[in-house]
Amino acid sequence: METFQVQYDRYRAAVEEALQGLFLRNKPYGRLQEAMRYSLLAGGKRVRPVMTLAFCEALGGEARRALALGAALECVHTYSLIHDDLPCMDDDDLRRGRPTCHKVYGETMAVLAGDALQAEAFRLISHAPGLSAEQRIDAVHTLSAACGGDGMVAGQVLDVEGPACDEASLRDMCLRKTGGLLGAAADLGCIAAGADAEARRLALSYAEHIGLAFQVRDDMLDVIADQEEFGKPVGSDKEEGKRTFVDLLGLEGCGKLVEEETALAKGSVSGFPRGGFLLELADSLADRRK
Ligand code: IPE
Ligand code: IPE
Ligand code: MG
Ligand code: MG
Ligand code: MG
Repeated sequence: METFQVQYDRYRAAVEEALQGLFLRNKPYGRLQEAMRYSLLAGGKRVRPVMTLAFCEALGGEARRALALGAALECVHTYSLIHDDLPCMDDDDLRRGRPTCHKVYGETMAVLAGDALQAEAFRLISHAPGLSAEQRIDAVHTLSAACGGDGMVAGQVLDVEGPACDEASLRDMCLRKTGGLLGAAADLGCIAAGADAEARRLALSYAEHIGLAFQVRDDMLDVIADQEEFGKPVGSDKEEGKRTFVDLLGLEGCGKLVEEETALAKGSVSGFPRGGFLLELADSLADRRK
């Protein structure tokens, strides 16, 4: 039987290959393509597309049928990171272990590279191989809702307009800015597998709990991580005047919340016949160091 790490690496290798084929440089606007590739191929964890492929397989589908949807999601995620790092947002200089997109290509090109990656995502879905027209439309609906004005972007608005003072508003912000795309990761896998409504509901519940745990862990790592391993600046939230879960609950309280949310996530998919990978994924994210 495949171990968790071997399975993760199999999914990640498929995602890397799909992403590598995306852009051509021999165009008059080749610098745009370069900036897009620079950020997209910088070696993130690929958690979201891995989750998409994993849900597809857990629900009886073939992982390759979910690949274009996972790649599309990673394009949207990378766009969100490029814009998140801009001076008008979090003003960060380091991402995925390298200088941020705007540090290398300038702010204008970074904004445009993010814009283009977002559009690229929906182009990828529109001709995703092996899926019906109905599945593609379903995927467009899921991804656009997750990243748009009620989803990730809304979460970013709440984040920059903050500070959120109580746990309920911090939760709502995280649910949108981070839970949105993780929810899409799970749902896109379900769509590719042709899953029924009940499986989709459970998958979304898993992703919602993972989303909160993931952001709380990210807030903790912003305080306790080793910067080299983390690949992005440590102490950036404080510097930017962000109010995070660490301010509200302390590191110990955050650790407890991550544990609780991870357990709830696992409970949502414990009845999936091939859900073992999802259980291990939840645990591995709870004590990640990057
Ligand atoms: C970073 O996401 C943004 C958050 C939602 C905390 P990841 O931690 O998945 O970043 P990469 O893709 O591995 O770089
Ligand atoms: C960002 O949250 C979530 C996004 C939608 C990009 P953070 O601002 O905490 O993410 P990092 O720490 O910069 O990756
Ligand atoms: Mg931010
Ligand atoms: Mg940030
Ligand atoms: Mg952060």
